[in-house]
Amino acid sequence: MHLTLKVWRQKGPNVTGEFVTYDHPDVSEHMSFLEMLDVLNQTLIERGEMPVAFDHDCREGICGTCNLMINGMAHGPERATTACQLHMRHFKDGDTVTIEPWRAKAFPVVKDLIVDRAAFDRIIQAGGFVSVNTGSAPDANATPVPKPNADRAMDAATCIACGACVAACPNASAMLFTSAKVAHLNLLPQGQPEKYTRTVKMVRQMEQEGFGGCTNMGECEAACPKEISMDFISKLNADLLGAARRGIRD
Ligand code: SF4
Ligand code: FES
Repeated sequence: MHLTLKVWRQKGPNVTGEFVTYDHPDVSEHMSFLEMLDVLNQTLIERGEMPVAFDHDCREGICGTCNLMINGMAHGPERATTACQLHMRHFKDGDTVTIEPWRAKAFPVVKDLIVDRAAFDRIIQAGGFVSVNTGSAPDANATPVPKPNADRAMDAATCIACGACVAACPNASAMLFTSAKVAHLNLLPQGQPEKYTRTVKMVRQMEQEGFGGCTNMGECEAACPKEISMDFISKLNADLLGAARRGIRD
């Protein structure tokens, strides 16, 4: 396939970026989207130009690093698919493809297509853990977990912290991410002692990071490569209410 790429180029966080157009005449339908960018970069290096900086790690849809806005859609046009798992067979010969970084105040651009998502790490640091007293190993199955709760906790735990929900949301809200990370622990017995303080601390950190508020647009759920449900946002709000009823502020 012969593609035209419009790629966001930005030398650093404090300089103005711009779209640069590249001719990409030799794209195989079998390439992944990131392999297509690898080939572009090889061409740029051979021409003595700076390659396009983009984030990636596992290339298997599990690490959440490959955050790319492709033709205005977080992770591109395929539902439930990360950019690294998107293949070029979903594009047509002659297409023009626009590639941008996530756009959100809380995710500042580092370079080209790479953004700083440390705000997510700080939300996790605020409460995304359980405290345990160490000692002898507990008996297996000493803490039964109801199957429906185990299933929902597992659904929440599939969030890979990619940030597509933020990038897709017109408010740049991080409610889907935060609700998944809170629910994953709040649904399990091990998460109960810190349930309400965890909820309050993680939501407060989310607000301090500059993410926008949730107005139920639903773009987050549509863009999420792991199909995290907005039901978790409802659960987060219920847990916040539970904390308020108990007078828990921190
Ligand atoms: S909720 Fe979905 S879109 Fe948001 S960070 Fe988690 S996996 Fe990515
Ligand atoms: S590179 Fe790991 S999810 Fe895409």
